[in-house]
Amino acid sequence: MKTDFLVIGSGAAGLTFALKAAEKGRVTIVTKGEMQECNTNYAQGGICSVTYAPDTFEKHIRDTLVCGAGKCDEQAVELVVRRAPELIRDLIAWGTRFNKTPDGRFELNREGGHTEHRILHYEDLTGAEIERALVEAVRRHPNITVLEHHFAIDLLTQHHLGEFVTRHTRGLACFGAYVLDERTNAVETMLARFTIVATGGCGNIYSSTSNPIVATGDGVAMCHRAKAITENMEFIQFHPTTLYNPGEKPNFLITEAMRGFGAILRLQNGDEFMDKYHPMKSLAPRDITARAIYREMTRRGEEFVYLDVTHKEAAAIRSHFPNICEKCLSIGIDITKEWIPVTPAAHYSCGGVKVDTYGQTSIKRLYALGETSCTGLHGANRLASNSLIEALVYADQAARHTAERFEATDFQDGIPDWDFAGAQHAEEMLMLIQSKREVQAIMSNYVGIVRSNLSLKRAMRRLAILFEETEELYGRTKPNRELCELRNMIAVAYLVIKQGRELKESVGCHYNSDYTQQA
Ligand code: FAD
Ligand code: SIN
Repeated sequence: MKTDFLVIGSGAAGLTFALKAAEKGRVTIVTKGEMQECNTNYAQGGICSVTYAPDTFEKHIRDTLVCGAGKCDEQAVELVVRRAPELIRDLIAWGTRFNKTPDGRFELNREGGHTEHRILHYEDLTGAEIERALVEAVRRHPNITVLEHHFAIDLLTQHHLGEFVTRHTRGLACFGAYVLDERTNAVETMLARFTIVATGGCGNIYSSTSNPIVATGDGVAMCHRAKAITENMEFIQFHPTTLYNPGEKPNFLITEAMRGFGAILRLQNGDEFMDKYHPMKSLAPRDITARAIYREMTRRGEEFVYLDVTHKEAAAIRSHFPNICEKCLSIGIDITKEWIPVTPAAHYSCGGVKVDTYGQTSIKRLYALGETSCTGLHGANRLASNSLIEALVYADQAARHTAERFEATDFQDGIPDWDFAGAQHAEEMLMLIQSKREVQAIMSNYVGIVRSNLSLKRAMRRLAILFEETEELYGRTKPNRELCELRNMIAVAYLVIKQGRELKESVGCHYNSDYTQQA
């Protein structure tokens, strides 16, 4: 199959790119589940953009840099912050609704690390609203084909032409991907002028995460195998406040916008504690808040703290957070009267596939967008609600870049079809599920909010066993989604641990107790 643009992933990044690129050529989107099953769909708090005074671009830039703990790429920060309003206008033109105040101005949320109200939102369901509008626009577009239940396995490069390639191979390029049709288990060779990896995050390498099950780090793993450069993988952001509801997966998020609205973190005995950790108290940057909660919980042997919004007016709580109110009521908590039990969970990958200003990876014709990429915007710790806007801005940058190179880029001949040797055994399928749980246990036990040199070393040793077993199985088995995801989770976990071991300091989301001084 041939397509001008092969887009892998149907979240904010992939769909925005598709809508922009479809003005130039034919776009095929492959996505591994239903179109809406993605991190974007679960976003609550909103999307950042400087909208009204007294906010300014300079303030948004400063807040992003401060949260990023000295590790942001300032050019990326400038680009995203200054282009944000333009991309918000595109979202609105595609049909996205944002809440407004009675005088017709956009209602702006505030979250941790922000010194101003600057987060546009739609109730506490912003991601679902953005995804709805993008999906509808994509479905209407005559130049876009969507293939649901299509799982990208690997990217095609000169390796598939029989050449030996490394990270340093000159002219290394991507020609498309091998894609598994999940319903028939056939593998298609999809050739493209440009391939866009927009596969989202990797929260599921941890036992508890706010991410839906599709977030298994496939794009980062694929790019890594194709010899693209990845960076900042150690900066896994834990969201401080997911609902403590044992057994529920994924963890339901209690948006940080609730703390922006005035909610307060409390210990189980009712005491406030964030004043010990940061002058912004419950609205401190996310890494500091998650670590503070973790410290208090481990010190006391407790599994959650409380978020208290009961001092705010009940009607206002219900109108700002209808989805959260309904969810909590469904498990017997009336948040207008009762405190919400919350606990941190893996939430966002600040690192990923290293890209330039146009979203281009170190491999030609290969772009990485959204959470899969590392643009340098987030540094060591992402400022809340900066990720959706980053996905949009870089999707637009990449669409412009590919459009300029369109005529000069042709399809590659000579890529062989997938070799279908091998069989599947039911017993092995059961073991895949068990192995996934083992990866999650290793990452949660040894590579969580607080790590150490010893814990990282142990994690690597344990992961090596799983790696060996899984590669052996992969070598003699027909591909299936479960096996490919496991393989990708192991690859991504490896990168998180490896890059964590290389960083000899504690900074942002990477806190190593052997280097307690911030460098
Ligand atoms: P996603 O939206 O995750 O889309 C990835 C797509 O790739 C999915 O469709 C998936 O099925 C597909 N895919 C994955 N692997 C494969 C494969 N191998 N083959 C084919 N398809 C594949 N950010 C904000 O800015 N503001 C917020 O308020 C906010 N709230 C959040 C709340 C929650 C609960 C979560 C989980 C995240 C939140 N974030 C928020 C983060 C933000 O939602 C994500 O970073 C962003 O949506 C990522 O968009 P994306 O397009 O890169 O990836
Ligand atoms: C939230 O609403 O708290 C999540 C915001 C984000 O992750 O950017």
